[in-house]
Amino acid sequence: MLVNVDGRIVPPAEAKISVLDRGFLYGDSVYEVVRTYRARPFELTAHLERLAHSAASLGLRPRWDAEHTAAELARTLDAARALPAPPLDPAAAPWNAGEWSARIVMTRGAGELGQDPALAVDPLAVIIVREAVAPPLRAYAEGVAVALAGVRRPPPEAVDPSAKTGAHLLHVLALKEARAADAHEALLLDGAGFVTEGSSSNLFVVRGGRLCTPPAAAGILEGVTRRAVLALARGEGVPVDEVRLRPEELEGADEAFITSTLREILPVVRVGRRAVGDGRPGPVTARLHQAFRQMASEVGSAGVK
Ligand code: PDD
Repeated sequence: MLVNVDGRIVPPAEAKISVLDRGFLYGDSVYEVVRTYRARPFELTAHLERLAHSAASLGLRPRWDAEHTAAELARTLDAARALPAPPLDPAAAPWNAGEWSARIVMTRGAGELGQDPALAVDPLAVIIVREAVAPPLRAYAEGVAVALAGVRRPPPEAVDPSAKTGAHLLHVLALKEARAADAHEALLLDGAGFVTEGSSSNLFVVRGGRLCTPPAAAGILEGVTRRAVLALARGEGVPVDEVRLRPEELEGADEAFITSTLREILPVVRVGRRAVGDGRPGPVTARLHQAFRQMASEVGSAGVK
C-alpha cells in the first residue's frame, strides 16, 4: 500500500493528517474508489466527474481539480508498481491478479474546532493505493448472501445520496448487522420500506427475464458499474425497468446481484434466510457478467477507455 498526502507519496505508516481535519472529525469529505484493468484506471473520467458532483453537492472545494487528481493518481500507481509485487492470492478471481485499487479522498481541510464549514482553511487531498481486494472466485460461482439492515437510509433531503461522502456511519452500522447475520452485504431500506442499495453497492434483480433496479430517484448512489451494467443489458437485449423494489420482491425474484467497482457483478443467492430463485447464481446474471468481463478485458486495447 502507498499513500499520497497532498502530493507526498509515502508508506501508510508515514501518512499523517491533522486531527483537526474535518474529514476525520465530521466526515466532511468526498471520495471515490477507482480500480485498474491492465494497470489502467477504469472509467476514470466517470469517477472524477462524480467526485466533482459530490464536492459541489457539499459546497466543498477540493484541493485538486480533475486533471491534477488524474496526474497524482498516475504518479501514485507508478510508485506502487515500482515496489516488490505482493504475493498473488490463489483464491482471487483471475481478473484481479496484479490489479490495483485507489481510494481518492478530498476533505474540506482543517481549521478551528467547530461545525461551521467556513472554519476550514486547508483542503486535503489523499490517494490510497493498494492491490485490488475483491471477492474470491468462489463467491462468483456460488453467490453471496445479503441481509436487510435494521438501520434505515435517511430521506434524500437529509444528505444527498448521489454524493459519495466520507460520512459512513450508516453504512458501517448496516454492514455490522449484515456480518453478524453471516451476510456479505447489507441492503438499506428507505423510510417507506423500499430497498435502495447496498452499503457499498447497487442492487439488481431479474424477474421474468427483465432486469430491475431502483431508480436514481429512490435515493441511491448512481454507481459507475450500475451504469455500465444498464448499458450492457440494453446491448444484450435484456429489457430494463428502473423501479422501486420491496424486500418481498427480492425473495420472489428469479435472480439477484449487486454491483460495485471492485465486485463487478456479484450474484446474490440469499436475502437473510430466504433463497433467491433456486438459490444459485442465475443465467442472466452470468450473461451480464460475461459481457462485463469482455468489456473490461478490452480496456487498454484498441483505444478502449
Ligand atoms: N462503493 N452505492 C454505494 C453506497 C457505494 O458506496 C458504492 C461504491 C456503490 C457502487 O458504485 P460504483 O459502481 O461506482 O463502485 C453504490 C465503493 C466502491 C466503496 O465504498 O468502496
